[in-house]
Amino acid sequence: MTNKMWGGRFSSEPAAIMAEINTSIDVDSRLFRQDIAVSRAHAAMLAKQGIISAADGKAIARGLDLVLKEMASGEFAFKREHEDIHGNVETRLRELIGPAAGRLHTARSRNDQVATDFRLWVRESIDEIDALLGAYQRALAEKALAHAATVMPGFTHLQPAQPVTFGHHLLAYVEMAARDRGRFAGARERLNECPLGAAALAGTSFPLDRAMTAKRLGFARPSANSLDAVADRDFVLEVLSAAAITAVHLSRFAEEIVIWTSPMVGFLDLSDAFATGSSIMPQKRNPDAAELVRAKTGRIVGALQALLMVMKGLPLAYQKDMQEDKESTIDALGTLSLCLGAMTGMVDDIRPNTARMREAATLGFSTATDLADWLVRALDMPFRDAHHVTGRIVAAAERLGVALDALPLEEMQAIEPRIGAEALRVLSVENSVKTRTSFGGTAPKNVRAQARRWLKKLRSKA
Ligand code: ARG
Repeated sequence: MTNKMWGGRFSSEPAAIMAEINTSIDVDSRLFRQDIAVSRAHAAMLAKQGIISAADGKAIARGLDLVLKEMASGEFAFKREHEDIHGNVETRLRELIGPAAGRLHTARSRNDQVATDFRLWVRESIDEIDALLGAYQRALAEKALAHAATVMPGFTHLQPAQPVTFGHHLLAYVEMAARDRGRFAGARERLNECPLGAAALAGTSFPLDRAMTAKRLGFARPSANSLDAVADRDFVLEVLSAAAITAVHLSRFAEEIVIWTSPMVGFLDLSDAFATGSSIMPQKRNPDAAELVRAKTGRIVGALQALLMVMKGLPLAYQKDMQEDKESTIDALGTLSLCLGAMTGMVDDIRPNTARMREAATLGFSTATDLADWLVRALDMPFRDAHHVTGRIVAAAERLGVALDALPLEEMQAIEPRIGAEALRVLSVENSVKTRTSFGGTAPKNVRAQARRWLKKLRSKA
């Protein structure tokens, strides 16, 4: 016999290059814990159902525990000739317990095995990422509470638009991370069905108890269609798309850290713990971690693209193409965890230069909307007219080269005689943010309440 797993009808060895393209052990050895847990559950169920003897069931369980120990020790020599994790586990099991090992594969296939293994692996990854997202949110909410009243420019088109608070800006990312967690949670719920027992594609004639294996492996239920169970990888696609969106969120914040730590902007400083130097320019402090988070987003989004392309032309049921689902997924989810750790570290680390932020918030006539709103409120002007009058006042300030709150009252009155001295009060950036009390607005009072709400919620969940 050539290959022990499937070589019965073969009379000669595969070409070396055939074996090389076919093997997946270099990647799926990462799934040994899941693979052994799945086999343990399957063997226990086979014995309980009388499909294998109790003695064989026991021998298999004991043997699998030994294999697990060997693999967990890091010293196990995975062999490419056994193709994948399933072949490696089974071969070693046979060495340890003899022919009883051959009964383990009754009423199952590597197709339902790998679909089950990978669901377990992805499920664990989701839980890890969820915890990291929670820690990231906590760091953001804490910083937001500390800077609920720190005024900075809010931007549209990267032009100063209206003053906001730094805390409000940080809480925007808390909201995004909450939706990211929701997407992961949704994917987790849908993936939590157990394919084991679908066998190769059609189910099996043995009297399985699929509910038992599903329960033992922590699944909500067995999957209801054997073809679907082995043929789809939408659970991976969903998780990768959640990961891609999360990475894009992180990347946008990373981009802001890069821009804001530039001395040309000077909003934020990173301590030595999160800055790197240059080998030639002694003055440099570079935000490498933020740049790398921004860049690694490409790998994560790429993994989603790659698997979508793998899947798009596959007829049902299992196709070997699907073996390509693991490498980039494992890389992408590991990369996302790394990025989340780095972002949390940077959020803790960043020190805002509050004076510089405030000064920048006054640039670009950022309180012009406040003046227009005053005209609406105090003079009962329609907003469109108020917008026009304020535009003319901004033009006057620009012509004289002064900020709006430094424009002499007479200059304003030349444009709109009913403007009184009390209008000048609405022009400070502090007043501007203080009055933005609408639900979801940037007023320090709102930001404090939202930050506290988040911290309470995050603490009770953690
Ligand atoms: N290594 C394979 C994979 O990851 C396991 C399933 C192999 N099944 C098969 N029919 N050749 O997809």
